[in-house]
Amino acid sequence: MQFGHFDKGTREYLITNPHTPVKWINYIGTRQFGGFVDHTGGALICKDDPAYNRITKYIQQMPASDFKGETLYLRLHTSDGYRLFSPFFVPTLDPLDRFECHVGLGYTRIISEFLGLRTDVIIFVPLDDHRELRNIHITNISDKPLSVDAIPLVEYTHPDALMQFTNADWLPQTMQSRAVDDGILKILVQYPFMNRDTKINYFTSNLPASSFDTDRKKFLGEDQSGTFKSPLSLFQPELNNSEALRGDNIAALLHPMGALQPGETHRLILQLGQDSSIQAARPGIEKYRQPQAVDAALEEMRAFWDGYLASLQVDTPDENMNAMLNVYNPHQCYITKTWSRYLSYYQLGMGSRSIGFRDSSQDLMAVLASAPQEGKDFIRTLLSFQKRDGSSMHQFNPLTMEGNVGHSIEMEDRPHYYSDDHLWGILAVTAYIKETGDLAFLDEIVPFYEKDKGGNPIEAGSVLEHLKGGLDFTRHDLGGHGLPLLGFADWNDTVNLPTGAESLLTANLYGKALLEMIALLEHLGDKSVMNRMFIENQSLQIQGAAHEYLAAYDQMKSRFESFAWDGEWYLRYFDAQGNPLGSAKNTHGQIYLNGQSWPVISGFASPERGRQAMDAVYKRLNTKYGIKLTVPGFNGYDPKYGGVTTYPPGAKENGGIFLHPNPWAMIAEAILGNGQRAYEYYAQINPLAKNDMIEVYECEPYVYAQNILGDEHPQFGLGRNSWLSGTASWCYQAATQWILGIRPEFAGLRIDPCIPSVWNGFSVVRRFRDRWWHITVHNPHRVCKGLAKMTIDGKEVPGNLIPADLPGDEHQVVAWLGQ
Ligand code: GLC
Repeated sequence: MQFGHFDKGTREYLITNPHTPVKWINYIGTRQFGGFVDHTGGALICKDDPAYNRITKYIQQMPASDFKGETLYLRLHTSDGYRLFSPFFVPTLDPLDRFECHVGLGYTRIISEFLGLRTDVIIFVPLDDHRELRNIHITNISDKPLSVDAIPLVEYTHPDALMQFTNADWLPQTMQSRAVDDGILKILVQYPFMNRDTKINYFTSNLPASSFDTDRKKFLGEDQSGTFKSPLSLFQPELNNSEALRGDNIAALLHPMGALQPGETHRLILQLGQDSSIQAARPGIEKYRQPQAVDAALEEMRAFWDGYLASLQVDTPDENMNAMLNVYNPHQCYITKTWSRYLSYYQLGMGSRSIGFRDSSQDLMAVLASAPQEGKDFIRTLLSFQKRDGSSMHQFNPLTMEGNVGHSIEMEDRPHYYSDDHLWGILAVTAYIKETGDLAFLDEIVPFYEKDKGGNPIEAGSVLEHLKGGLDFTRHDLGGHGLPLLGFADWNDTVNLPTGAESLLTANLYGKALLEMIALLEHLGDKSVMNRMFIENQSLQIQGAAHEYLAAYDQMKSRFESFAWDGEWYLRYFDAQGNPLGSAKNTHGQIYLNGQSWPVISGFASPERGRQAMDAVYKRLNTKYGIKLTVPGFNGYDPKYGGVTTYPPGAKENGGIFLHPNPWAMIAEAILGNGQRAYEYYAQINPLAKNDMIEVYECEPYVYAQNILGDEHPQFGLGRNSWLSGTASWCYQAATQWILGIRPEFAGLRIDPCIPSVWNGFSVVRRFRDRWWHITVHNPHRVCKGLAKMTIDGKEVPGNLIPADLPGDEHQVVAWLGQ
């Protein structure tokens, strides 16, 4: 069953039925000002931080029929009195004649038709601005005049999002609103009392309002029998002009539009923003009351996304893959880079999750081609949450810049660190340098997290020293087999074993990070300028360091190979007593996906064992909807294993199709040369393929979800936790760098595809190191992998590496797969 379709021309997804099984959302603005908009016009908006500076009250858990954050009512004057409806469907739930929600790049547009009125609303935040705009056109599409009023509505929350729900005494006493006359227009101002003189929310429009309300009680009806579906005040000629002195604050403006003639359109522009004072806000308010300014802002938004997406465009034989890689996947990657795991329809943004060190390190790897500067700035921030011992804080709040140790704080007898966090940072930094060639970044000084009493960092080090610190931490944090200790958890947050357990995933991630460092140091060995820097820093001698890391790599590899093989696949953990998990001997959790893919990625697996392990994945873990994380799922809570056993079998990390590690299986298959299987794993989780089965899948088909229920669960195939998942970044990396094989390296761009042998080829346009590369790959012999020949600008070149410093802005690269 479908609820909409993809529109190639506009790069939108078009929802045509408001009854989606769950709300489908889109993001507007940035973390500096923005949030998400659902497909029925509800919006969760915040400035700088959804936990501590939230503006609209959006309660994800309330039924879909409920009004959330913002809406719009239209009121027709008829001979029988007022006829009220919402062009967004919610909250009046009328059977609209037409409903379209266009999920666009940086905006959501809702077009609906009902009772002879067409309403077209574009919701967005102008680039680099601090206001939500709702650009509304209301047209009379009937053949007779229609007298209509437009009443937009915002419901406010206290800025402290959690406090809104935990305090019903102090909090409502502080919430106040007032109306400011602005010539013939009105500005409704709202604040918690303590912010009155420093930080106010405002709501205003470009048309005169004859009345307003800011007190929810008054708006709904004093006797409290009014509902948002049918507010009593909208059945009287005017609103109550209530200025809330306390309680539940809203902003409602009644705009009488008079009689619209057939074909006539009125344009209403709404602004919801926050500023230090109304005086400070006025110039911006004036600006965006002008329709030309709104049009120009929309144009700028379009230009931003044109530029962003142009950095990598593909043309393969798979249309779904093209649509995903050219539009929807990079869009999602930018959103995950912006919001980490902080705010979505599923991540409530109340502060218990926020910017994850591990998560964001991985997310930003997928924006580097399009937004390298943003990537670099973010890496710098992340590294400032690394501690002097090399480990990292697990997450941090972007407003207070306070780090924390996540859920590990809840168990006193367990370590308060995650064994993998800091290692992802190494992958992020090396990915950034491979993309940009910006070696000077390694020399930049970034503070470590620890602060003195005055809040100043106690120590700082170069980016390179941060990387080295991360490797050193893991190198010395070992358990009984000489393998890395698990800490509270590794990537799998939910397997929390008693102190002393070892993680084989962390062993492999460490191996991969070592490989990255070795390659970096080897590259630096060619650069005399960097060579000098090293000596000045007294940090490392390049040659010596590369050897040292190689020795560390070999040592961990040999421990891994001695202890981690279970017979048909690799183990995943050892508990503190040295018992294996992820073994055929276990009753539950016999085999783990990451246990198999990562030894291939780290190079610890021999080709034979790697193949055997990945075949076991195919046999034991693959389903038509994606690869499960582990089987069989645990069936009952067991404190020995922790979080994983809180889920029923088949859900999330407990035997669910946890999508984030699926692309690691694609990468492992590409490394092993099985292009068919790498692609099969890609295609089977492509969200676009879900469009015809929404009754099973339920979530947005234009983004990856974090998880799909596995086949041990009766609701096999049901997706949840869409948008904010590492799946976005890694599917993008797996598809572009490993399946299509266009892979940045320190010295240039590697062309190393691993595609299904039935493909006759593909082409890619990619921006890399300020040059445009038009790459065409032919597959005349129908193989998966291996270049027979490559030409750059018509000249045959040896090997498959495009040198980064080739003069000229644009180049044609043609490659032929085959012997
Ligand atoms: C969630 C977390 C991520 C973790 C994963 C597996 O997606 O955000 O950090 O790695 O779950 O537990």
